[in-house]
Amino acid sequence: MLSEKEKPICPFCDGKNVELYSSFGTAQLVRQYYCQNCKTVFESIRWSGTADASPEQTQGIQTVGVVGSGTMGSGIAQTFLQSGLSVTLYDIEDEILESNSRNIITNIEKMKVKGKITPEQAESANRNLKVSTKLTDLSGLDLIIEAVPEIKSLKIELFKKLDAVSDPETILATNTSSFSVTEFAANLNHPQRMIGIHFFNPAPLMPLIEIVKSQLTDQTTIDRTRDLFLQIKKRPVICKDTPGYIVNRIARSFYNESLRIVDEGLATHEKVDRIMKKAGGFKMGPFELQDLIGIDINYNTTQSLFDNFQSESRFKPHYLQKEMILANRLGRKTGKGFYKYE
Ligand SMILES: NC(=O)c1ccc[n+]([C@@H]2O[C@H](COP(=O)([O-])OP(=O)(O)OC[C@H]3O[C@@H](n4cnc5c(N)ncnc54)[C@H](O)[C@@H]3O)[C@@H](O)[C@H]2O)c1
Repeated sequence: MLSEKEKPICPFCDGKNVELYSSFGTAQLVRQYYCQNCKTVFESIRWSGTADASPEQTQGIQTVGVVGSGTMGSGIAQTFLQSGLSVTLYDIEDEILESNSRNIITNIEKMKVKGKITPEQAESANRNLKVSTKLTDLSGLDLIIEAVPEIKSLKIELFKKLDAVSDPETILATNTSSFSVTEFAANLNHPQRMIGIHFFNPAPLMPLIEIVKSQLTDQTTIDRTRDLFLQIKKRPVICKDTPGYIVNRIARSFYNESLRIVDEGLATHEKVDRIMKKAGGFKMGPFELQDLIGIDINYNTTQSLFDNFQSESRFKPHYLQKEMILANRLGRKTGKGFYKYE
């Protein structure tokens, strides 16, 4: 047993009050230090993102703006709505917003039918969703998170505009998969409120949240963000602002090597997926996962890591992905990727 002085910080939330806990890992009993807060959350998780969150519990964060209503933006909006927060969803065109907000409402209805949320929660989620194509409608909110395509210049320009329309106390967050959060913060008048909140796909179901602290993020912003996610039953992990953070850096090899295996004719993409699932125990194979993520999003993420790691060959994007983008085979969102979708 370690003395109070020797105890490490919590590996999940950087909290200080850690205790030694035992849990079953994949094959053996794991003994690990983490904090009471994270323990409570882990033990209570059956599935994530439904807890009702009062203003005191969420550190005053009750109103959220989500910029970009695609795969991630829609999932992020749904996650907050299910927890009783209000969401203003912004996108560039009314038609896009109409179609994507309809999907969110359908998904919430499905959750109700499955008994995952109560009829009252579903009703308040529908009531709490607003949509807009005007950036000024995001002023006065507690948190704004961006989920626009993985294009650095687009995000930099967007944050300059968000900086101008929002209050200085509003937390500004990016869901970027790979870019430097510090670079976005450096362009703001109030850079201490900028943070990375990296959700995983599908956002309402995946518990892990990588909270990326930039060189300029202040402790209050980190604490408020972490507490919000603990409250809505996610698993926030604080990460350094390095290219790809933790998961996306590891995942590059997963995608790149599988693309090379197929390209070298060693196996078809169907076979690779089958092996990884049936023999490897993965929930999805690398090609199913790329279709879910979006070939364009995944390609841009790999390119960003390649650029940031000074063109190290292990991060080099595969030409097959580039060709699929040119052919608009972007995965599920365009109905065709490695597989076909109805
Ligand atoms: N897809 C994933 O699995 C995944 C996982 C984690 C993080 N991310 C990150 O999330 C972000 C969004 O990815 P996605 O998969 O949801 O993309 P997507 O292509 O599905 O959606 C992007 C949305 O942004 C909108 N948009 C484009 N330009 C805009 C602008 N100027 N202002 C407002 N909205 C605009 C588009 O109309 C679209 O609705 C990216 O940074 C990506 O790296 C993606």
